[in-house]
Amino acid sequence: MNSNIKILSEVDQNILINLVKIHFSAFKKFNLRPWKYKDFIDFLNSGFKVFYYVSEKKILGFIIVNCNLDFIEIITIAIDKPHQRKKIGNSLLQYVINYGRLDKFLYIEVAKNNYGAIDFYKKHGFNICSERKNYYLIHSGKDRGSRIDALIMKLIL
Ligand SMILES: CC(C)(COP(=O)(O)OP(=O)(O)OC[C@H]1O[C@@H](n2cnc3c(N)ncnc32)[C@H](O)[C@@H]1OP(=O)(O)O)[C@@H](O)C(=O)NCCC(=O)NCCS
Repeated sequence: MNSNIKILSEVDQNILINLVKIHFSAFKKFNLRPWKYKDFIDFLNSGFKVFYYVSEKKILGFIIVNCNLDFIEIITIAIDKPHQRKKIGNSLLQYVINYGRLDKFLYIEVAKNNYGAIDFYKKHGFNICSERKNYYLIHSGKDRGSRIDALIMKLIL
């Protein structure tokens, strides 16, 4: 157990505002649609689990998962940009891996051009198992309106 990691069990406006900011900071460079407060509410209402990482009373990152009977889907993981590469993502992902039961597998969809995240998942034993063509819509920037393929990566527990 990692005492820096908390579970968000009910709507907490202050925490959710922080998660929106962190998501924006982490994903800004990919020009995808920024997630809004309402997206997080929808995740909570769908029964997805939100784990967030706190250090010195500041939230530095989070992971959202959809737990099913035999698999866990990672909806996303995001670390505040200035705090990336400090093993916070590592702690959150490991927490979720330990949270899953032995007969489960985990999977994640990741944009094909997100080389950092692909390396991150490979480091944790995930393998690419399939691809979804034209999955992510570019929301802004010079490629606005075009689409990026997604890779599906899987970890058997
Ligand atoms: C990907 C992400 C979650 C990783 O979390 P993190 O706290 O920054 O990464 P960690 O410090 O735990 O990294 C652990 C290992 O993963 C690999 N890794 C992580 N980020 C990487 C990057 N950008 N490039 C290459 N390898 C990377 C490295 O092997 C790293 O170990 P090292 O630093 O000793 O080399 C985080 O960088 C992030 O929020 N990125 C933007 C959002 C995103 O892409 N989310 C995933 C969507 S599917």
